[in-house]
Amino acid sequence: MSCCDRMAAGRLASAASASQLGASSSSVLRPGHASLPEADNSLREALTSLSASSERKAVAMVVGLIGPGRVGSELLRIWQQHAACQTLPLHGVLNTRHALLSAESLLADSSNPPPPGTAGSATDRLLTRLAHSERQSITAFVQQLRSLRAQRHVLIDATASAEVAAQHSSWLRAGIRVVTANKWALAAGHDDYAELQQAGADHDSQYLAATTVMAGLPVLSTLRRLQCSGERIQRISAVLSGSLSALTAACDQGEACSAVLLQLQQQGLTEPDPRLDLSGLDVARKLVIMARTIGLQLELEQVDVQCLLPAELLAEPALDLTMHAAQLNRHWQRLSEKLSGKLVYRADLEVLADGSCAAQCRLVGLSADDPMTMLRGSDNQVQITTASYAQQPLIIQGAGAGIAVTARQLFADLLQCWQSA
Ligand SMILES: NC(=O)c1ccc[n+]([C@@H]2O[C@H](COP(=O)([O-])OP(=O)(O)OC[C@H]3O[C@@H](n4cnc5c(N)ncnc54)[C@H](OP(=O)(O)O)[C@@H]3O)[C@@H](O)[C@H]2O)c1
Repeated sequence: MSCCDRMAAGRLASAASASQLGASSSSVLRPGHASLPEADNSLREALTSLSASSERKAVAMVVGLIGPGRVGSELLRIWQQHAACQTLPLHGVLNTRHALLSAESLLADSSNPPPPGTAGSATDRLLTRLAHSERQSITAFVQQLRSLRAQRHVLIDATASAEVAAQHSSWLRAGIRVVTANKWALAAGHDDYAELQQAGADHDSQYLAATTVMAGLPVLSTLRRLQCSGERIQRISAVLSGSLSALTAACDQGEACSAVLLQLQQQGLTEPDPRLDLSGLDVARKLVIMARTIGLQLELEQVDVQCLLPAELLAEPALDLTMHAAQLNRHWQRLSEKLSGKLVYRADLEVLADGSCAAQCRLVGLSADDPMTMLRGSDNQVQITTASYAQQPLIIQGAGAGIAVTARQLFADLLQCWQSA
């Protein structure tokens, strides 16, 4: 069956289930019953219409996007151009300053011919509408989306916010499926992580997070398959940061660390705050996610992480790559001059005989025969050594960062959610 056939079959199944759901007793927001301290009249009007519409019909899936930033807005572009655009609706978008909610799909609306004199793509018009909307709290936003009767509710988290990630468990408990590029929940402290797992299991809610490691390359799914099959994973070595991969490659060629970072930031290849990349913590979070995927109990604090930033720059309110260039370059020089061979920032996880593990992330120089010397640009690579892959590790390599690849894989996770609705 082709991808299009599967989607058509999925749509038929969804339509059939939606009509059965028409008589269900899902809670419906009634205007006047909701507390909307931050909403103004225009938002109230939108919500009144949204509520009235939801009383008329239940749809297959209601989707809300939190974080239409670099990845999130690219996701909207991909979605808008995809064959699923007309049938896979987007009912809400929220960032820190604005919220847009609609009873009809915001994508279908934005793909209508633009009003005379309006320039830009359909996604640009949607983002312009968002920019003219009022602010709303995440709680109120989610509450409004849930008030739309549907077979499934899905929230996409395309933020890098710990505050948003802290709500994933409660969404799962409410039966909402979560599609996330945000690593914070999966790498949170043990209790919060256990709660997330329990919430998903108790409520049979999908949690799709392929893009949290290597921008959606099939790493977590491979680890899960190996683990499920009873394979004993002995070691994972990985270059897990596209920005650090590009940084080490360019610095190897003699370029200045600060100049390379500035370029990468402009290309959207760093985290919103590049100190997250340079601190090594973003890599450590990915290693924790991988370890937990194979059932290991690893906390972020247990990873021995080498920071690539001088301590004084960690304390600054923000990193200014021009103003702090000299400090950055001096620090890089000190770290790299002791190493020989191709430089990479490598994450290593060793699974010990008693089932515990040792984890570290640091700048290393590679010997000439290491497959990681094949890495180019911002590529990532993971080497998985197991009982079956003992002589030669199983290797997965490819673009592990970048707005376009991340957004594409995030959309693939959303489609997976839709097709299993
Ligand atoms: N860029 C990549 O190559 C890449 C690769 C893999 C994974 N990722 C992950 O993808 C996610 C997004 O990255 P990005 O580069 O797109 O970030 P970004 O451009 O900074 O966008 C972040 C978005 O999240 C919104 N946001 C932040 N905190 C929020 C909050 N508390 N409530 C509501 N909205 C909030 C921001 O709203 P405002 O505009 O109002 O601040 C913005 O729309 C991150 O988790 C990142 O780790 C990125």
